[in-house]
Amino acid sequence: MQIIRTVAQMQQVAQRLRAEGKRVALVPTMGALHEGHLSLVDLAKAKADAVVVSIFVNPTQFGPSEDFESYPRDLDADAEKLRARGADIVFAPERDEIYPKDFSTYISEEALSKGLCGATRSGHFRGVCTVVGILFNIVAPQLAVFGQKDAQQAAVIRRMVRDLRMGVEILCGPIVREENGLAMSSRNAYMVPEQRQDALKISEALKIARRLIDNGVRSADRVIAEITNHLYTSRRIRVIYAHVVDRETLAPLREIVPGRSMVVLAVWVGEVRLIDNMEI
Ligand code: PAF
Repeated sequence: MQIIRTVAQMQQVAQRLRAEGKRVALVPTMGALHEGHLSLVDLAKAKADAVVVSIFVNPTQFGPSEDFESYPRDLDADAEKLRARGADIVFAPERDEIYPKDFSTYISEEALSKGLCGATRSGHFRGVCTVVGILFNIVAPQLAVFGQKDAQQAAVIRRMVRDLRMGVEILCGPIVREENGLAMSSRNAYMVPEQRQDALKISEALKIARRLIDNGVRSADRVIAEITNHLYTSRRIRVIYAHVVDRETLAPLREIVPGRSMVVLAVWVGEVRLIDNMEI
């Protein structure tokens, strides 16, 4: 496995892979890798000849009061996990490689980015789209793999790729959960044991939704009321949003349509912001 730190070298290697006729998959990450990320590497390996994993804590997607500075960073540990999983290349550029000092061009998706996480994380998806666009230009992958846990991010990226004719196939890997149901996230590391216990309410709430829907409930209001009641059985949880949305447009639905709907949740557990979702 090769570790590349500069854009110039990554472009050179990407060009060589293309010349050799290799199908290249990119798995963009911010590091602090867990089994969720590694499952995306597995998916990428199954679909491509060469797998590039980018590790870059992207400053433009963090708000001023968010956790950019404290976001966990451990390139050696991440590289070890990726080597064991059979990734071919780790692209881990420094900040200035991606954003030169006078950088002034951004990509802004203007519809799907507005609601859900976008409503309280102003500029977040503009930062995500910008860095993903830059990574696509550098690595020139045929395929890129994202996690379903960030369902809004995946929808926004699909829309960006479609609108800007980027010609990159977007695949989504399923949410990977700990045995107790907690969706894997790099931010889980911030939680103390008591908060981890509270965080279990999130996957429990989704299970309650599943049960109601399996029993024929189609009213989104009813499902959301049951979910929020369950979440608020913990004093330390604050709900940021809980909706049933259309999977593609992310528009909130009053009536659940199996095959097209998704329950989406974002909560604060103390100072830790967690998201989760379930396709219906
Ligand atoms: O999902 C993430 O880790 C990030 O938002 C991404 C896609 C790597 C862009 O920085």
